[in-house]
This record gives sequence, structure tokens and C-alpha cells, in this order.
Amino acid sequence: MSQTPTTSRSELHVHEGPEGRITRLVIMGPQGVGKGTQAARLAETFGIVAISTGDIFRANIGGDTELGRTAKAFIEKGDLVPDEVTNAMVRDRLGQPDVVDGFLLDGYPRNAAQVAELDTILADLGWELDGVIELTADRDELMARLAKRAEEEGRTDDTPEGIRKRLEIYDAETAPLTAAYAERGLLAEVDGVGEISDVTDRIVTSLAAQLG
Ligand SMILES: Nc1ncnc2c1ncn2[C@@H]1O[C@H](COP(=O)(O)OP(=O)(O)OP(=O)(O)O)[C@@H](O)[C@H]1O
Ligand SMILES: [Mg+2]
Repeated sequence: MSQTPTTSRSELHVHEGPEGRITRLVIMGPQGVGKGTQAARLAETFGIVAISTGDIFRANIGGDTELGRTAKAFIEKGDLVPDEVTNAMVRDRLGQPDVVDGFLLDGYPRNAAQVAELDTILADLGWELDGVIELTADRDELMARLAKRAEEEGRTDDTPEGIRKRLEIYDAETAPLTAAYAERGLLAEVDGVGEISDVTDRIVTSLAAQLG
């Protein structure tokens, strides 16, 4: 379980969303880099809601909903769920009332079409992104963490083949997206190796430096 974040909101001097604080963020990075762990801590720190597309899909599979039944086969093979399904789900989630105070998206956008769709969804809501965090770790570290997670959590997509395929898609389709966000001046690249709380501190510092 994650510890309590050490950085309080009052200590932050970071980029301003319309309400004068960081509110709308994306966290990117390869499988196993710690996005979910950091997303929960950052959500607490910034007083925003963490939205993980993978978690939403897994909850729908667990609940045997229509969305879950649609997504299941793609996820178990390590493939992306089709954009029209994922985009509609994200649009719906971002329209919910708890998102008005801000959000941190984990697992979306994952390809160029999703970047474009996120821009459209946010424009329709009258919002813009405040920052994009890219968490990094070398491949050996990722493989070691994913092997441990496979044992501990038993996710059906954490098979050697599923992991290989997801990392391949990440390298080919997702990693290149950071360049576009860097060009917009939104990207904060952060080393994801080390103590969980140190990584959180690094992210907060990096956002402040990049966006402040
Ligand atoms: N934006 C998306 N577009 C398409 N499919 C998605 C998207 N987000 C999640 N999925 C589906 O859900 C699966 C699990 O996603 P999730 O982000 O939880 O796992 P992951 O890729 O292993 O990353 P992490 O290690 O951070 O959990 C993906 O492999 C994919 O099938
Ligand atoms: Mg995750």
C-alpha cells in the first residue's frame, strides 16, 4: 500500500490551471514503471481524481458489463482496446462531476488518435492539459517489477507474452507521443527508479520546474 504523500498542496508553486493550481494531468510511461502507484499519491497531493483506463476496464470485466465483455479479449491478448470504445469511455468519465476539480489520466492517451481525441474532449469541456508526466525506468527494472506483480496480483494480462506485447506497443505507439507534449511545453520527464516517496517528490519538483 502506498504511503501518505509528503508534499502538501500548500507547499506547491506550480503551474496554474484556470483555478490557479495544477488540475489536469496525464501520466505516461511503460508497463511496470509505477504509474498507478504515483497517480494515487499525486491525486492526493493535488486534490484531484486519478483515472486509470486499465482499472476501469478491469472493473467492467469483473462486473461482466457490456464494456467489460467487449474489452476482455483485447486486454488478455495484450492488445489495445479499439479507440472508439476507449475514447467513448474516457469522454464519459471526464464528464462526471468529480472531475471538475481536476484529474490525472493514467493509461490514456496511448496512441496518436487518442491524443487528438483527448484534445477534442477537453476543448468540448472548455479545458486544457496543465502537464504531462513521463516516468522512466530501464527495461531490466521493468521486467523485474512486472514479474513480481504477476506473482502478487495475478493480472490475466501479466503473462510473458502479454507483457512483451504491451511493451512493444508502448515503444511503437505510446512513447513517441511525449515529443508532441514536449513541444507544447507540457512534458515533465522523471526517473521512476527509487523510493516511492522520492519518486513522488521528483514528480512534484519537476512539474514545478517545467510548468511553473
Ligand atoms: N488508452 C487505452 N487504449 C486502448 N486500450 C487500453 C487503454 N488503456 C488501457 N487499455 C487496455 O487495458 C489493458 C491494461 O491497461 P493498464 O494501463 O492497466 O496496464 P499496463 O499497460 O500493463 O500498464 P501498467 O503497468 O501501468 O498497469 C491494456 O493492455 C489495454 O488492453
Ligand atoms: Mg497501471
